[in-house]
Amino acid sequence: MAVESTGPETLAHLLARRIVMDGPISVGTFMAEALGHPRFGYYMRRDPFGSGGDFTTAPEISQMFGELVGLWCVDTWARLGGPGPFHLVELGPGRGTLMADLLRAAAVLPLFRDNVTVHLVETSPSLRERQRQTLHPVLGDAVHWHDRLEDVPEGPTILIANEFFDALPIRQVQKTNHGWFERLVDVEPDSTEEAPRFRFVLEAFGSSGNRLVPDALRDAPDGSVVEVSPASQAVARLIGGRLAAAPGAALVIDYGHTHGPAVGDTLQAMCRHAYAPVLEAPGEADLTAHVDFTAIATAAREGGAQSFAPVEQGEWLSRLGIRQRAAALTAKASREQARDIRGALDRLIDPAQMGRLFKLVALATPGAFADAPPAGF
Ligand SMILES: C[S@@+](CC[C@H](N)C(=O)[O-])C[C@H]1O[C@@H](n2cnc3c(N)ncnc32)[C@H](O)[C@@H]1O
Repeated sequence: MAVESTGPETLAHLLARRIVMDGPISVGTFMAEALGHPRFGYYMRRDPFGSGGDFTTAPEISQMFGELVGLWCVDTWARLGGPGPFHLVELGPGRGTLMADLLRAAAVLPLFRDNVTVHLVETSPSLRERQRQTLHPVLGDAVHWHDRLEDVPEGPTILIANEFFDALPIRQVQKTNHGWFERLVDVEPDSTEEAPRFRFVLEAFGSSGNRLVPDALRDAPDGSVVEVSPASQAVARLIGGRLAAAPGAALVIDYGHTHGPAVGDTLQAMCRHAYAPVLEAPGEADLTAHVDFTAIATAAREGGAQSFAPVEQGEWLSRLGIRQRAAALTAKASREQARDIRGALDRLIDPAQMGRLFKLVALATPGAFADAPPAGF
């Protein structure tokens, strides 16, 4: 493909030009640019949630989800000894719906609301604006936004992250009969500069592949693909460090697996509630990958936190009383609303829907939950 001097019109043009000049990029770089490029990144320019968007998250399905997370935060804060002023941090808050529902439920303990400072870690300017609109009636201007967790002030912390880690870049490595090679993204040689297309290739020498593959999977069969997310591990290590330095706990909710390092290509693109080819239109579709909860917990422990065994979302919500909450809402609902509540309950807890695929892991200051694990774990 020849390089011309016309300016890029889409992220695909920009990435293709970069690849032609500098060589293939890692899957992680492709994903990071597709989601977070300041001008063309998927999250930078749109509100992707709900029936008119590309996907629906648990807080957008029902208020019950955020309310139960709110009760977990209140209980956790009380169990931490109610350490006075504290930071309530949310990573990747979407429309701000989870935080709004959480804070409404947290009104059961006025002291919680009196002591809380809310920090939202969000890179998208358009979603920040959406969060401001959602939270202004609840918090006024008392919300702090940050680009990175590192920027949140130190101190006692309760942190939540729903469907944040699945949006962090992964890298992929593949086993060949010559060893492990990193998978890269290259430009299709027969595509044009006006309409670039992309394809997967393997790195030339296997230097990154051999470094990235976890020891436990080194002997996997030829053709196996393994995913690692150094970006996720770095954030988890940072959370661990925060929880080691001051009292606190974190709740990570996402879709993924708990069986440790595994083979499998889970990178997927969603557009208008349907799967799309992952390399087809960078910046136009949501890109996610299964979260490796074992890797998150391990990194958080390396950072200094304690971790609690992951629980499936259906089980966790049931333990926190979602059926009782659904019954209370239904008692005051019209017939149509009651049907919606039933549908939302099923979607959140049914093992065939979100109940099994989605999981939660709790992280905490070592020893802070010596008597019993955090609620639902
Ligand atoms: C799938 S959405 C989840 C939204 C919300 N938690 C929910 O459950 O509805 C991912 C969120 O993370 C944000 N995000 C993605 N990558 C990020 C990054 N590297 N740093 C901060 N926020 C990020 C997105 O803008 C979006 O708000």
